[in-house]
Amino acid sequence: MLAQPFVAALCHRPDGVVVDATFGRGGHSRMVLDRLAPNGRLIALDRDPQAVACGERLQWQDARFQIHHAAFSDLERVCGGTMVDAVGFDFGLSSPQLDEAERGFSFSAAGPLDMRMNPQQGASLAAKLGKVSHHRLTQIIRDYGEERYAGRIARAILAARKEGRLATTGDLAEVITKALPGRARHGDHHPATRTFQALRIWVNDEYRQIDDGLAAAIRLLKPGGVLAAISFHSGEDARVRDTIESHVHPCICPPQLPVCGCGRVADMRWLQKKPLRADGDELARNPRARSARLRIAVKCDDDGTAGHHQCGQPGACASKQPTGR
Ligand SMILES: C[S@@+](CC[C@H](N)C(=O)[O-])C[C@H]1O[C@@H](n2cnc3c(N)ncnc32)[C@H](O)[C@@H]1O
Repeated sequence: MLAQPFVAALCHRPDGVVVDATFGRGGHSRMVLDRLAPNGRLIALDRDPQAVACGERLQWQDARFQIHHAAFSDLERVCGGTMVDAVGFDFGLSSPQLDEAERGFSFSAAGPLDMRMNPQQGASLAAKLGKVSHHRLTQIIRDYGEERYAGRIARAILAARKEGRLATTGDLAEVITKALPGRARHGDHHPATRTFQALRIWVNDEYRQIDDGLAAAIRLLKPGGVLAAISFHSGEDARVRDTIESHVHPCICPPQLPVCGCGRVADMRWLQKKPLRADGDELARNPRARSARLRIAVKCDDDGTAGHHQCGQPGACASKQPTGR
């Protein structure tokens, strides 16, 4: 999805060190390797053991490539002090995770109530539902799924669990659908889509992962290094936008101050602030691309100039001169 501009952004230096933080089944990684020179390197990560097994096969075939079974919040440990030329994130689930019922992500097939990207770590959805309060579950469904009927869905899920009617993802999808008012059951998406998204974000602690992964990536980038991120829903995209914005416009002074006193200097610059969306051809080939959004930014050079392209003030934030404090 948006694969061409994503990979082109990551491969700005053919002899560089590139990180694919979300290997999946290696679609992007293979495209990166096609562009990298013989002395380039690609370091890939995934928290899903099945993805890593697929990456290990690629590792045997290509000496420039390394795969690690790790969460991207652990990026700095994985890179072991190596500064890198590009980091790419393609958030969300891979097609096998979505399609294989036994992973417990699918509402159209009867799988276990699991939803862990790494089934070897953390608690499954079933275990978490056994401990959660109605108040907290409502919050999760509302905040992570933007679901307006969160309260009644949470009540229905907990009641079904108590009565032993919640064994599979198919049961869960049915309980959610029945909890919705009739008018909310019809639309472009399955009526359980928002709630499944919310539960998956909760089980995998996805927002903390994204915040920590983006922060680690920015620290690891060399000057001129590129950060590219593909998001699939507004919660992910807002985190990418806000994290990068806080590095492009880091000044925290009150707007009424004529001169910057905080002295915070921009260390990133947008290359693609308005998110790129999939075009008609790509949508025809892959309907899942309809919600994908790509944003790209670059780490400033050591002289700070790349960070101050808007105001032209080396050492200053975008709008104010520092006082020198
Ligand atoms: C959309 S898929 C990536 C597809 C991949 N770009 C490709 O071309 O095949 C997202 C992948 O990211 C992985 N993932 C999600 N969150 C992660 C995290 N915090 N750390 C590491 N991998 C993660 C998932 O397990 C999944 O395999």
